[in-house]
Amino acid sequence: MATSNGSAKHPFFDLHPGMRIRQHRPLNVGAPLELIRQAFVTPQDYFFVRNHGAVPQVNLHLYRLAVTGRVQAPLALPIGELRAHFPPSTIMATLQCAGHRRDELAAVQPIPGEILWGAETIGNAVWRGVALREVLLAAGVGPEVRHVAFLGLDTIHKGSECFGFGGSIPIEKAMSAEVLLAYEMNGQPLSPRHGFPLRVVVPGYIGARSVKWLASIVLQEEPSANYYQARTYKLFPPHVRAESADGTQGQMLAALPLNAVIFRPGEGELLKAGSICIQGYAVAGEGQQIERVELSSNGGATWADATLLEPPQPWTWCFWEVTVPLGPGAHQLIVRAWDSAGDTQPADVRQVWNWKGYLNNAWHRVNVDIH
Ligand code: MTE
Repeated sequence: MATSNGSAKHPFFDLHPGMRIRQHRPLNVGAPLELIRQAFVTPQDYFFVRNHGAVPQVNLHLYRLAVTGRVQAPLALPIGELRAHFPPSTIMATLQCAGHRRDELAAVQPIPGEILWGAETIGNAVWRGVALREVLLAAGVGPEVRHVAFLGLDTIHKGSECFGFGGSIPIEKAMSAEVLLAYEMNGQPLSPRHGFPLRVVVPGYIGARSVKWLASIVLQEEPSANYYQARTYKLFPPHVRAESADGTQGQMLAALPLNAVIFRPGEGELLKAGSICIQGYAVAGEGQQIERVELSSNGGATWADATLLEPPQPWTWCFWEVTVPLGPGAHQLIVRAWDSAGDTQPADVRQVWNWKGYLNNAWHRVNVDIH
Protein backbone atom coordinates (compact mmCIF):
# COMPACT_ATOMS: atom_id res chain seq x y z
CA MET A 1 0.00 0.00 0.00
CA ALA A 2 1.98 2.95 -1.29
CA THR A 3 0.69 6.26 0.02
CA SER A 4 1.81 9.71 -0.95
CA ASN A 5 0.59 13.26 -0.79
CA GLY A 6 2.27 14.34 -3.98
CA SER A 7 0.74 14.81 -7.39
CA ALA A 8 2.14 12.20 -9.73
CA LYS A 9 1.44 10.17 -12.81
CA HIS A 10 -0.36 6.92 -12.15
CA PRO A 11 0.80 3.82 -14.04
CA PHE A 12 -2.77 2.67 -14.91
CA PHE A 13 -5.09 5.63 -14.60
CA ASP A 14 -5.16 8.72 -16.73
CA LEU A 15 -5.45 11.32 -13.97
CA HIS A 16 -5.89 15.08 -14.15
CA PRO A 17 -2.37 16.50 -13.60
CA GLY A 18 -3.57 18.49 -10.57
CA MET A 19 -4.83 15.41 -8.68
CA ARG A 20 -3.12 14.37 -5.48
CA ILE A 21 -2.50 10.66 -5.21
CA ARG A 22 -3.13 9.51 -1.63
CA GLN A 23 -2.75 5.83 -2.47
CA HIS A 24 -1.72 4.11 -5.70
CA ARG A 25 -3.23 0.68 -5.00
CA PRO A 26 -6.08 0.79 -4.46
CA LEU A 27 -6.50 4.09 -6.26
CA ASN A 28 -7.33 6.92 -3.86
CA VAL A 29 -7.06 10.47 -5.17
CA GLY A 30 -8.39 13.93 -4.44
CA ALA A 31 -7.91 17.38 -5.92
CA PRO A 32 -6.50 20.46 -4.19
CA LEU A 33 -9.20 22.90 -3.02
CA GLU A 34 -7.88 25.42 -5.53
CA LEU A 35 -8.94 23.03 -8.30
CA ILE A 36 -12.22 21.87 -6.72
CA ARG A 37 -13.43 25.47 -6.32
CA GLN A 38 -13.24 26.10 -10.07
CA ALA A 39 -16.49 24.34 -10.96
CA PHE A 40 -19.85 24.11 -9.20
CA VAL A 41 -20.40 20.80 -11.00
CA THR A 42 -17.17 18.85 -10.50
CA PRO A 43 -15.85 17.25 -13.73
CA GLN A 44 -15.31 13.46 -13.55
CA ASP A 45 -11.75 14.28 -14.48
CA TYR A 46 -10.88 15.60 -11.03
CA PHE A 47 -13.74 14.23 -8.91
CA PHE A 48 -12.18 12.47 -5.89
CA VAL A 49 -11.84 8.68 -6.02
CA ARG A 50 -12.22 6.54 -2.90
CA ASN A 51 -11.61 2.83 -3.46
CA HIS A 52 -11.10 -0.04 -1.03
CA GLY A 53 -10.11 -2.53 -3.72
CA ALA A 54 -8.99 -2.57 -7.35
CA VAL A 55 -11.30 -1.10 -10.00
CA PRO A 56 -13.03 -4.14 -11.55
CA GLN A 57 -13.27 -4.57 -15.32
CA VAL A 58 -16.89 -5.15 -16.18
CA ASN A 59 -18.05 -6.87 -19.36
CA LEU A 60 -21.22 -5.01 -20.32
CA HIS A 61 -22.52 -7.97 -22.37
CA LEU A 62 -22.44 -10.26 -19.35
CA TYR A 63 -23.50 -7.66 -16.79
CA ARG A 64 -26.77 -8.25 -14.91
CA LEU A 65 -28.01 -6.35 -11.87
CA ALA A 66 -29.50 -8.89 -9.45
CA VAL A 67 -32.42 -7.80 -7.25
CA THR A 68 -33.15 -10.49 -4.68
CA GLY A 69 -34.06 -11.19 -1.05
CA ARG A 70 -37.51 -10.48 0.31
CA VAL A 71 -39.07 -9.62 -3.06
CA GLN A 72 -42.07 -10.96 -4.94
CA ALA A 73 -40.13 -11.47 -8.20
CA PRO A 74 -36.32 -11.52 -8.28
CA LEU A 75 -34.82 -9.56 -11.20
CA ALA A 76 -31.65 -9.91 -13.28
CA LEU A 77 -31.37 -6.73 -15.33
CA PRO A 78 -28.93 -5.97 -18.14
CA ILE A 79 -28.16 -2.24 -18.41
CA GLY A 80 -30.15 -2.05 -21.68
CA GLU A 81 -33.25 -3.33 -19.92
CA LEU A 82 -32.79 -0.95 -17.02
CA ARG A 83 -32.62 1.95 -19.48
CA ALA A 84 -35.54 0.69 -21.60
CA HIS A 85 -38.02 -0.28 -18.89
CA PHE A 86 -37.58 2.38 -16.21
CA PRO A 87 -38.06 6.14 -16.62
CA PRO A 88 -34.79 8.09 -16.48
CA SER A 89 -34.22 10.27 -13.45
CA THR A 90 -31.65 13.04 -12.97
CA ILE A 91 -30.43 14.65 -9.78
CA MET A 92 -27.64 17.04 -8.86
CA ALA A 93 -26.06 15.77 -5.67
CA THR A 94 -22.89 16.31 -3.70
CA LEU A 95 -21.00 13.16 -2.74
CA GLN A 96 -18.83 13.25 0.36
CA CYS A 97 -16.71 10.60 2.03
CA ALA A 98 -17.07 9.88 5.76
CA GLY A 99 -13.28 10.41 6.09
CA HIS A 100 -13.51 14.00 4.82
CA ARG A 101 -11.25 16.38 6.84
CA ARG A 102 -9.70 13.48 8.75
CA ASP A 103 -6.32 15.25 8.72
CA GLU A 104 -7.61 17.84 11.22
CA LEU A 105 -8.73 15.08 13.60
CA ALA A 106 -5.39 13.31 13.25
CA ALA A 107 -3.63 16.53 14.30
CA VAL A 108 -5.37 16.20 17.71
CA GLN A 109 -4.70 12.46 18.23
CA PRO A 110 -3.10 10.13 15.68
CA ILE A 111 -5.43 8.02 13.51
CA PRO A 112 -3.19 5.21 12.28
CA GLY A 113 -4.00 3.05 9.28
CA GLU A 114 -6.38 5.51 7.60
CA ILE A 115 -5.85 7.89 4.71
CA LEU A 116 -5.45 11.37 6.17
CA TRP A 117 -7.76 13.09 3.71
CA GLY A 118 -8.07 16.85 3.79
CA ALA A 119 -11.24 18.64 2.66
CA GLU A 120 -10.90 17.11 -0.80
CA THR A 121 -13.17 14.06 -0.61
CA ILE A 122 -16.16 15.96 -1.89
CA GLY A 123 -17.58 16.62 -5.34
CA ASN A 124 -20.85 17.67 -6.89
CA ALA A 125 -22.25 15.94 -9.97
CA VAL A 126 -25.35 15.62 -12.11
CA TRP A 127 -26.26 11.95 -11.85
CA ARG A 128 -28.60 10.26 -14.31
CA GLY A 129 -30.05 6.81 -14.03
CA VAL A 130 -33.22 5.30 -12.64
CA ALA A 131 -34.78 5.87 -9.23
CA LEU A 132 -33.98 2.90 -6.97
CA ARG A 133 -37.63 2.91 -5.81
CA GLU A 134 -38.84 2.11 -9.35
CA VAL A 135 -36.69 -1.01 -9.46
CA LEU A 136 -37.72 -2.05 -5.94
CA LEU A 137 -41.40 -1.60 -6.83
CA ALA A 138 -40.90 -3.71 -9.97
CA ALA A 139 -39.42 -6.51 -7.85
CA GLY A 140 -42.17 -6.16 -5.21
CA VAL A 141 -41.06 -5.20 -1.70
CA GLY A 142 -41.98 -7.75 0.97
CA PRO A 143 -43.79 -6.35 4.05
CA GLU A 144 -40.93 -7.40 6.37
CA VAL A 145 -38.23 -5.45 4.48
CA ARG A 146 -36.39 -2.86 6.61
CA HIS A 147 -33.06 -2.49 4.79
CA VAL A 148 -31.81 -2.48 1.21
CA ALA A 149 -28.30 -3.93 0.87
CA PHE A 150 -25.91 -3.26 -2.01
CA LEU A 151 -22.86 -5.25 -3.11
CA GLY A 152 -20.17 -4.14 -5.57
CA LEU A 153 -18.19 -6.23 -8.06
CA ASP A 154 -14.81 -5.30 -6.56
CA THR A 155 -12.87 -7.64 -4.28
CA ILE A 156 -11.09 -6.48 -1.15
CA HIS A 157 -8.19 -8.44 0.33
CA LYS A 158 -7.65 -8.06 4.08
CA GLY A 159 -5.04 -10.39 5.52
CA SER A 160 -6.16 -13.88 4.53
CA GLU A 161 -9.74 -12.75 3.89
CA CYS A 162 -11.34 -11.77 0.61
CA PHE A 163 -14.73 -10.07 0.32
CA GLY A 164 -16.80 -7.61 -1.68
CA PHE A 165 -17.64 -4.00 -0.85
CA GLY A 166 -21.18 -3.53 0.42
CA GLY A 167 -23.49 -1.57 2.65
CA SER A 168 -27.16 -0.87 3.20
CA ILE A 169 -29.67 1.92 3.69
CA PRO A 170 -33.02 1.84 5.49
CA ILE A 171 -36.03 1.05 3.29
CA GLU A 172 -37.53 4.53 3.91
CA LYS A 173 -34.44 6.17 2.39
CA ALA A 174 -34.28 3.60 -0.42
CA MET A 175 -37.88 4.43 -1.40
CA SER A 176 -37.27 8.19 -1.54
CA ALA A 177 -37.07 9.79 -4.96
CA GLU A 178 -33.49 11.10 -4.63
CA VAL A 179 -31.77 7.68 -4.42
CA LEU A 180 -30.58 6.65 -7.87
CA LEU A 181 -29.03 3.75 -9.69
CA ALA A 182 -26.83 5.95 -11.85
CA TYR A 183 -25.28 5.11 -15.21
CA GLU A 184 -24.24 8.67 -16.12
CA MET A 185 -22.26 11.37 -14.38
CA ASN A 186 -22.32 14.92 -15.78
CA GLY A 187 -23.82 13.78 -19.09
CA GLN A 188 -21.19 11.10 -19.73
CA PRO A 189 -21.21 7.37 -19.01
CA LEU A 190 -19.74 6.62 -15.58
CA SER A 191 -15.99 6.18 -15.87
CA PRO A 192 -14.59 2.85 -14.60
CA ARG A 193 -13.19 4.47 -11.47
CA HIS A 194 -16.56 6.04 -10.56
CA GLY A 195 -18.48 2.78 -10.90
CA PHE A 196 -19.11 1.83 -14.57
CA PRO A 197 -21.58 0.54 -15.57
CA LEU A 198 -23.88 1.24 -12.61
CA ARG A 199 -23.60 2.69 -9.13
CA VAL A 200 -25.87 3.71 -6.31
CA VAL A 201 -26.08 7.42 -5.44
CA VAL A 202 -27.49 8.08 -1.97
CA PRO A 203 -27.67 11.89 -1.59
CA GLY A 204 -27.21 13.09 1.99
CA TYR A 205 -25.54 9.86 3.17
CA ILE A 206 -21.84 9.05 3.60
CA GLY A 207 -20.19 8.20 0.28
CA ALA A 208 -19.66 4.57 1.33
CA ARG A 209 -23.37 3.83 0.83
CA SER A 210 -23.13 4.92 -2.82
CA VAL A 211 -21.84 1.52 -3.88
CA LYS A 212 -19.98 1.46 -7.22
CA TRP A 213 -19.89 -1.37 -9.82
CA LEU A 214 -23.22 -2.51 -8.42
CA ALA A 215 -23.67 -6.29 -8.63
CA SER A 216 -26.71 -6.88 -6.45
CA ILE A 217 -29.47 -5.36 -4.39
CA VAL A 218 -30.86 -7.51 -1.57
CA LEU A 219 -34.00 -6.59 0.35
CA GLN A 220 -33.79 -7.77 3.94
CA GLU A 221 -34.87 -7.32 7.54
CA GLU A 222 -31.44 -6.44 8.96
CA PRO A 223 -28.72 -3.99 7.90
CA SER A 224 -26.03 -5.45 5.63
CA ALA A 225 -23.59 -7.80 7.37
CA ASN A 226 -20.85 -6.65 4.96
CA TYR A 227 -17.57 -5.55 6.59
CA TYR A 228 -18.08 -1.94 5.43
CA GLN A 229 -21.45 -1.72 7.18
CA ALA A 230 -21.09 -4.04 10.17
CA ARG A 231 -17.41 -3.57 11.11
CA THR A 232 -16.29 -0.19 9.89
CA TYR A 233 -17.79 3.17 8.90
CA LYS A 234 -18.99 3.28 12.49
CA LEU A 235 -18.94 6.17 14.91
CA PHE A 236 -17.54 5.89 18.44
CA PRO A 237 -17.42 8.54 21.18
CA PRO A 238 -14.15 10.51 21.61
CA HIS A 239 -13.04 8.51 24.69
CA VAL A 240 -12.90 5.20 22.75
CA ARG A 241 -9.36 4.48 21.53
CA ALA A 242 -8.21 1.97 18.88
CA GLU A 243 -6.90 -0.34 21.64
CA SER A 244 -10.25 -0.45 23.48
CA ALA A 245 -12.61 -0.32 20.48
CA ASP A 246 -14.91 -3.25 19.74
CA GLY A 247 -15.70 -3.14 16.01
CA THR A 248 -19.03 -4.91 16.51
CA GLN A 249 -20.17 -1.90 18.57
CA GLY A 250 -20.46 1.73 17.47
CA GLN A 251 -23.10 3.53 15.45
CA MET A 252 -23.44 2.57 11.77
CA LEU A 253 -22.90 5.74 9.76
CA ALA A 254 -25.68 6.91 7.50
CA ALA A 255 -26.59 10.62 7.11
CA LEU A 256 -23.90 13.28 6.77
CA PRO A 257 -23.79 16.29 9.09
CA LEU A 258 -23.79 19.99 8.14
CA ASN A 259 -20.33 21.13 7.01
CA ALA A 260 -18.50 24.17 5.63
CA VAL A 261 -14.97 24.70 4.33
CA ILE A 262 -12.81 27.64 3.23
CA PHE A 263 -11.56 27.09 -0.36
CA ARG A 264 -9.32 30.13 -0.41
CA PRO A 265 -7.11 31.55 0.90
CA GLY A 266 -5.21 28.37 1.65
CA GLU A 267 -3.51 27.39 4.91
CA GLY A 268 -0.37 29.48 5.58
CA GLU A 269 -0.96 31.86 2.66
CA LEU A 270 0.81 35.23 2.70
CA LEU A 271 -1.54 38.08 1.74
CA LYS A 272 -1.44 41.86 1.41
CA ALA A 273 -3.32 43.88 4.05
CA GLY A 274 -6.70 45.24 2.96
CA SER A 275 -10.00 43.73 1.86
CA ILE A 276 -9.56 39.98 1.53
CA CYS A 277 -12.06 37.88 -0.41
CA ILE A 278 -12.69 34.53 1.24
CA GLN A 279 -14.48 31.73 -0.64
CA GLY A 280 -15.67 28.26 0.17
CA TYR A 281 -18.47 25.74 0.19
CA ALA A 282 -21.12 24.66 2.65
CA VAL A 283 -23.17 21.50 2.52
CA ALA A 284 -26.26 20.70 4.58
CA GLY A 285 -26.97 17.37 6.22
CA GLU A 286 -29.68 14.89 5.20
CA GLY A 287 -32.92 16.64 4.26
CA GLN A 288 -31.78 20.16 5.23
CA GLN A 289 -30.62 23.21 3.28
CA ILE A 290 -27.97 25.83 3.92
CA GLU A 291 -29.51 28.87 5.55
CA ARG A 292 -26.49 31.03 6.39
CA VAL A 293 -22.69 30.93 6.26
CA GLU A 294 -20.56 33.09 8.58
CA LEU A 295 -16.90 34.01 8.74
CA SER A 296 -14.93 35.11 11.79
CA SER A 297 -11.40 36.51 11.87
CA ASN A 298 -11.31 37.08 15.65
CA GLY A 299 -11.66 33.58 17.10
CA GLY A 300 -15.46 33.54 16.87
CA ALA A 301 -16.09 36.79 18.82
CA THR A 302 -17.90 38.34 15.84
CA TRP A 303 -19.10 36.90 12.53
CA ALA A 304 -19.63 38.38 9.06
CA ASP A 305 -22.40 37.00 6.85
CA ALA A 306 -21.15 35.43 3.63
CA THR A 307 -23.06 35.70 0.36
CA LEU A 308 -24.42 32.43 -1.01
CA LEU A 309 -23.50 32.44 -4.68
CA GLU A 310 -26.53 30.43 -5.80
CA PRO A 311 -29.90 29.67 -4.21
CA PRO A 312 -29.55 26.69 -1.86
CA GLN A 313 -31.02 23.48 -3.21
CA PRO A 314 -31.49 20.08 -1.60
CA TRP A 315 -28.63 17.53 -1.74
CA THR A 316 -26.21 20.06 -3.26
CA TRP A 317 -23.40 22.14 -1.86
CA CYS A 318 -23.50 25.95 -1.88
CA PHE A 319 -20.58 28.14 -2.86
CA TRP A 320 -20.17 31.31 -0.76
CA GLU A 321 -17.89 34.32 -0.49
CA VAL A 322 -17.31 37.19 1.88
CA THR A 323 -14.85 40.10 1.93
CA VAL A 324 -13.31 41.08 5.25
CA PRO A 325 -10.77 43.81 6.10
CA LEU A 326 -7.56 42.34 7.54
CA GLY A 327 -4.59 44.32 8.94
CA PRO A 328 -0.98 43.12 9.18
CA GLY A 329 -0.24 40.13 11.41
CA ALA A 330 -1.24 36.50 11.84
CA HIS A 331 -4.97 35.76 11.49
CA GLN A 332 -7.11 32.69 11.76
CA LEU A 333 -10.14 32.59 9.48
CA ILE A 334 -13.05 30.47 10.71
CA VAL A 335 -16.17 29.42 8.84
CA ARG A 336 -19.40 27.95 10.16
CA ALA A 337 -22.77 27.30 8.52
CA TRP A 338 -26.37 27.18 9.75
CA ASP A 339 -29.04 24.96 8.22
CA SER A 340 -32.80 25.13 7.69
CA ALA A 341 -33.39 23.31 11.01
CA GLY A 342 -31.54 26.14 12.84
CA ASP A 343 -28.56 23.90 13.61
CA THR A 344 -24.92 24.87 13.34
CA GLN A 345 -21.55 23.12 13.61
CA PRO A 346 -19.40 22.20 16.64
CA ALA A 347 -16.62 24.69 17.33
CA ASP A 348 -13.73 22.37 18.08
CA VAL A 349 -12.37 19.22 16.42
CA ARG A 350 -11.80 17.73 19.88
CA GLN A 351 -15.60 17.55 20.30
CA VAL A 352 -15.94 15.30 17.25
CA TRP A 353 -12.69 13.30 17.44
CA ASN A 354 -13.22 9.56 16.99
CA TRP A 355 -10.64 6.83 16.53
CA LYS A 356 -11.54 6.09 12.88
CA GLY A 357 -11.65 9.77 11.95
CA TYR A 358 -15.17 10.06 10.53
CA LEU A 359 -17.64 12.94 10.10
CA ASN A 360 -15.44 15.88 11.04
CA ASN A 361 -17.72 18.90 10.76
CA ALA A 362 -16.10 21.20 13.30
CA TRP A 363 -15.53 24.86 12.36
CA HIS A 364 -13.00 24.95 9.52
CA ARG A 365 -9.99 27.15 10.30
CA VAL A 366 -7.35 28.58 7.98
CA ASN A 367 -4.30 30.49 9.22
CA VAL A 368 -2.98 33.33 7.08
CA ASP A 369 -0.21 35.91 7.38
CA ILE A 370 -1.00 39.47 6.36
CA HIS A 371 1.81 41.92 5.56
N1 MTE B 1 -18.17 1.06 -3.95
C1 MTE B 1 -17.40 -0.01 -4.12
N2 MTE B 1 -17.88 -1.06 -4.79
N3 MTE B 1 -16.13 -0.06 -3.63
C2 MTE B 1 -15.60 1.00 -2.90
O1 MTE B 1 -14.45 0.93 -2.46
N4 MTE B 1 -16.01 3.22 -1.98
C3 MTE B 1 -17.09 4.01 -1.36
C4 MTE B 1 -18.17 4.35 -2.38
N5 MTE B 1 -18.53 3.20 -3.15
C5 MTE B 1 -16.42 2.14 -2.70
C6 MTE B 1 -17.72 2.13 -3.28
C7 MTE B 1 -16.65 5.23 -0.72
S1 MTE B 1 -15.93 5.04 0.79
C8 MTE B 1 -16.90 6.46 -1.26
S2 MTE B 1 -16.57 7.86 -0.39
C9 MTE B 1 -17.49 6.62 -2.60
O2 MTE B 1 -17.68 5.36 -3.24
C10 MTE B 1 -16.57 7.46 -3.47
O3 MTE B 1 -17.08 7.54 -4.76
P1 MTE B 1 -16.14 8.07 -5.92
O4 MTE B 1 -14.86 7.27 -5.89
O5 MTE B 1 -16.89 7.94 -7.19
O6 MTE B 1 -15.84 9.53 -5.60
